[in-house]
Amino acid sequence: MTEYVFLDGQYIESDKAVIPVRTHAFLYGTGVFEGIRGYYNQEENKMYVFRMKEHYERMMRSAKVMWMESPYTVEEYSRITIDLLKRNEYKQNVYIRPTLYKSSMKIGPSLDDNKDSFVLFTTPLNDYYDSDKGLNVCISNWRKNSDNAMPPSVKITGAYANASLIKTDAHFAGFDDAIVLNEAGKVAEGSGMNLCFVKNGKIITPNTTDDILIGVTRNTVLELAKYLGIPTVEREVSRSELYVFDEVFCCGTGAQIMPIVSIDHRQIGNGNTGFITKKIQNLYYEVVQGKIEEFKHWCTPV
Ligand SMILES: Cc1ncc(COP(=O)(O)O)c(C=O)c1O
Repeated sequence: MTEYVFLDGQYIESDKAVIPVRTHAFLYGTGVFEGIRGYYNQEENKMYVFRMKEHYERMMRSAKVMWMESPYTVEEYSRITIDLLKRNEYKQNVYIRPTLYKSSMKIGPSLDDNKDSFVLFTTPLNDYYDSDKGLNVCISNWRKNSDNAMPPSVKITGAYANASLIKTDAHFAGFDDAIVLNEAGKVAEGSGMNLCFVKNGKIITPNTTDDILIGVTRNTVLELAKYLGIPTVEREVSRSELYVFDEVFCCGTGAQIMPIVSIDHRQIGNGNTGFITKKIQNLYYEVVQGKIEEFKHWCTPV
């Protein structure tokens, strides 16, 4: 099957979608992007794109910080995404990757007088991890890039070198992933996902000002918790608290809802997926497939 990509205003075959070697975003990491998922609902024989609007709204905020002039509106990005998915005729879950990037050929890092281009590709993708097994993680000895250096709330392509170092060093040390602290030594997030903790029946997640990406899935978890009657709190979290939470899980578009069963070799809870984690996880998988009426407005049919 031919897979199409949207580049420079056109739908073209994936292997013909190339960009020049002098492209600014390639040389300096000056792109902003999103990771979105489309879920294939087998019973309805239909795909739903999850919280597409919120993702493109975040891309617009990222673009503003990076002096970009978006060539399209949120509605236009959404329409292009649905068009591309229709062309690619998937009958399975997919990952959707839009990138708005600085596309001039100029040498030097500045963002002004520098054209903005948009590229979008889609690819089949199922679970990153085995969602029943749970992750064994460490605390990274890297720190999260701070808001005053490279704002983590802005999804900048070049900033992901930080995530690459965190994740790769965790792998070489024998862990699935890592939790990273911010420059103040407080818990920030995972390499590419937000974190949630459970203590005495309450869900705790770091503040939006603790150097995290303000995740769409994090917000989904807070909303689902409200729906289930589980109290939530956003607050600073210290390293030493991590080891003694009742449950820990991470959340993100890619990771979805994944239990963390050990941190720095210390078992969390009884070492299995916790009760509240399981409740959120089960509901999440129903919601993303458009199966729960209350949350259907988050799911755009293709
Ligand atoms: C660093 C980082 N934190 C958190 C997340 C979770 O964000 P979202 O739920 O919007 O996918 C991501 C992306 O998936 C990420 O790259």
